[in-house]
Amino acid sequence: MWHSGAFVRNTVVSFLAHWVFGYGSLIWRVDFPYHERRRALIRGWARRFWQGSRDHRGTPEAPGRVVTLIPRRGERCVGLAYRVEADVLAHLDHREKDGYERTEVDMHTTSGACRGITYVAPAGNPGYLGPDRLDAMAADIRGAAGPSGSNRDYLCQLAAALDRLGAEDAHVYALAARVKALEAEAGRGGQAARRVEGG
Ligand code: SIN
Repeated sequence: MWHSGAFVRNTVVSFLAHWVFGYGSLIWRVDFPYHERRRALIRGWARRFWQGSRDHRGTPEAPGRVVTLIPRRGERCVGLAYRVEADVLAHLDHREKDGYERTEVDMHTTSGACRGITYVAPAGNPGYLGPDRLDAMAADIRGAAGPSGSNRDYLCQLAAALDRLGAEDAHVYALAARVKALEAEAGRGGQAARRVEGG
């Protein structure tokens, strides 16, 4: 049977393409080509700001906090599934190099289930920070910045993107609210200090 060039190309692409689940910056900073993108969720994982970022949103001396996935029975994590070609995985391996590992997951997308990979920074990797009090994590995020920009921007972009996806994520929204509250408190403190100085 004879097939058109487009048919053969599409068949080869879908055979060679991979699904990648993004749950952090891969949702809102898309610096790679993809064939298709769908809203997706994975079960048994929770998104947490427990990974240190020494290369993107912080420095080795003052790491920022970025998200990783923690295995949690009964939890679910909403993100985006991308169908990409193999060379995109090489790019993502480099982008996610500070502690993240490719991990196979089952994704439930708006058009059915599929299996693919996601990048998880497991407990015990050299950059892992783990949990802390909400205030302490918010203060870390407020103060940190690295070559890719401020840690605050990473958090706020993620919170806004999750909101657009209609994703519930109490951890992310609570941190974003806390960072904004800390900024408002600092702003009020600065104004009070200026009033005292001004007499
Ligand atoms: C991801 O977005 O899926 C991985 C973590 C990150 O790069 O923020």
